[in-house]
Amino acid sequence: MEVVICANPKEMAQRSARLIADVLNAKPNAVLGMATGSTPLGLYQELVRMHRAEGLDFSQVTTFNLDEYVGLSPQHEQSYHFFMQQNFFQHVNIPPQNVYIPSGTTSNCRAFCDWYERRIKECGGIDVQILGIGSDGHIAFNEPGSSLMSRTRLKTLAKSTIDDNARFFASRGDVPIYAITMGVGTILEARQCVLLANGGNKARAIAQAVEGPVTSMITASALQLHPSVQVFVDAAAAGELSMREYYQWIQKNKPGAPRMG
Ligand code: PGA
Repeated sequence: MEVVICANPKEMAQRSARLIADVLNAKPNAVLGMATGSTPLGLYQELVRMHRAEGLDFSQVTTFNLDEYVGLSPQHEQSYHFFMQQNFFQHVNIPPQNVYIPSGTTSNCRAFCDWYERRIKECGGIDVQILGIGSDGHIAFNEPGSSLMSRTRLKTLAKSTIDDNARFFASRGDVPIYAITMGVGTILEARQCVLLANGGNKARAIAQAVEGPVTSMITASALQLHPSVQVFVDAAAAGELSMREYYQWIQKNKPGAPRMG
């Protein structure tokens, strides 16, 4: 994993957006894996800015979102469909038919999940998967104990995730307890993964994911098995990384880095 410690969430958004823009410039019809939550908001804002100010083109892009709450329609304000429309899709030029998000209202969950996996393959696989991390170490809604080989499926949310996400709902009782989520195995098949985290409440999960053992109890730790992962963290989220100075040393001295002094 390449760990990039940023001064603040703004720099994190700018650097991760630059990475996505570089991918799109090299491959205009790239397939992007999208994440929701508060963490990637800055990245999406920066991509929208690049679209408007620099002409970053999404007209050939296809997207697959990681997950969706079961029981929420696309019009529900806390659904991830709604989140993506509000925060990204309505501001860029991705053709609507190229947008895939798990259905929270399917009547045949099993068939839907199999179809979703098939569509990812038919579209050529995911080029870059954007990821946040839960305070319990989850990626997408792959809660502790999820198989590291898991595929898109119905998942019961952990109590800690329901607590974390209750801030977006009128009451804790309104938070759905099921979600459809890509599996860890699905995510590991992306050609490149970009993990984002900011804030001190993510410091422990980031340290476990990057430096801890690979374990299904911290599903983000499975990214250690992936050959191409960039981890963008702010100083607070980097707070418990024991090799912090080494990562900074690498960023300063890696081939191609600007020479200092
Ligand atoms: P957050 O969620 O970005 O809202 O903190 C991250 C996650 O649970 O994956």
